[in-house]
Amino acid sequence: MSNRTASVVRKIETAAHDVWEVISDTRCPETWIPFLDSRRLSSDREEQPVENGVLLYHPSSHAIACDNLIAFSVVRLAPDDRTIEFNLTSGFLQISVEVIVHEAAFGALLEVGSQPNVPPQYLSPAFKEMLQGVSKEIADTVSVICRAKYPVSTGKVSPPPPPSFLSSRHPEMSVTGVERVAPTSELKDIMAAGCPVIFGHYGGSTSAYPLLQDLDWWNDRFGDQTVRIQEMEKAAYMPENTYVSTTISMLVSMLASNPNGSRFALYETSVLEILGLGQYLPVPEMVPREYPVKCHNIWIGAPHINSTLHQDGHIVDRTGKDPKKYHNLNFQIAGRKHFILAHPNQTKHLYPMHRDMYNDGAPTSQVDPFGPLDFGTFPEVKKAELFEGVLEPGEMLYVPRGWWHAFYSLENTINSNTLFSSHDF
Ligand SMILES: [Fe+2]
Repeated sequence: MSNRTASVVRKIETAAHDVWEVISDTRCPETWIPFLDSRRLSSDREEQPVENGVLLYHPSSHAIACDNLIAFSVVRLAPDDRTIEFNLTSGFLQISVEVIVHEAAFGALLEVGSQPNVPPQYLSPAFKEMLQGVSKEIADTVSVICRAKYPVSTGKVSPPPPPSFLSSRHPEMSVTGVERVAPTSELKDIMAAGCPVIFGHYGGSTSAYPLLQDLDWWNDRFGDQTVRIQEMEKAAYMPENTYVSTTISMLVSMLASNPNGSRFALYETSVLEILGLGQYLPVPEMVPREYPVKCHNIWIGAPHINSTLHQDGHIVDRTGKDPKKYHNLNFQIAGRKHFILAHPNQTKHLYPMHRDMYNDGAPTSQVDPFGPLDFGTFPEVKKAELFEGVLEPGEMLYVPRGWWHAFYSLENTINSNTLFSSHDF
């Protein structure tokens, strides 16, 4: 990033702007230049594949691309739509990034596409594949520095009531509670048993826990940092969701005043993306060091957001022990979450979507366990053996590898989840 751009970036970070006021000023496009956010570090401890001698998806690729932005041009300015389109060209592998920015309720909504500028006839299949991979990574990491005014409410809208427990809605179904154990219990023993448990009072054993619960602390310590939040009209992972860039400070004020019951969250963001957070929220010590950690995330969001019923991982395997599936430790820092779980051997009752429809590669059920169950369309669900409970602040839920799980936030929620592999359980 050039010195000039860096100074403008700082200027924007300390000012409050309506998004359109910023992005429509084309006299000096650097004042809102998107940047390839080199802070988005990989938290993946697993080995990256090397194909044909080319290292794919290496985080430093982003930094190289960022430092080599050589051209910037506005393609279309549409005041009526409050939309602007522009191109960035990177010297790194001559990749062109096309970005459309719309003003949105909580910041700027981005549409990002990227493509190599090299004519296809000059590209070998391996090189083409590498370019596609790098292009996708760049598109995924483009971020815009912006501020948005919080929309003024035009009237109170009551949020929907939370779903009642499955066990009370459907007493004819097999629904079991989850056992609570002491936070000092050995994770390996629990993994060997192969059942979900809740570590009670886990938060009390971590020194930073009182700070992590306090949204004012988040604002004071990390308020200036730019983050991407998701607005979720339906379940998380669904394509209707939109992404906007904003700051942690704005997120905290939105959580404090949310008169219309909007559903939004800083959704499964790597702890490493928030500079300085790792020292307060390390990978839980109970994870044995020899087990590779897939990701370690932070989650801050409004009430009434629910995930789909899904498995963590990519490949369906009847044993439930495929190494591409992950164990999940879910630390509830603030607020409460209603959860529903099922053993992998219940897959036959849960109607997984076709593989092409899996969101983010994770096997996903067509059944919304928090909504009215449609036994006409999904008759097998009635036979599913499920687990259910509420995760309280300070508690940690262990979801064994390959288990189906779904969450529903009952209140403003701060949560951290850690996915890890093992080869023995
Ligand atoms: Fe998950």
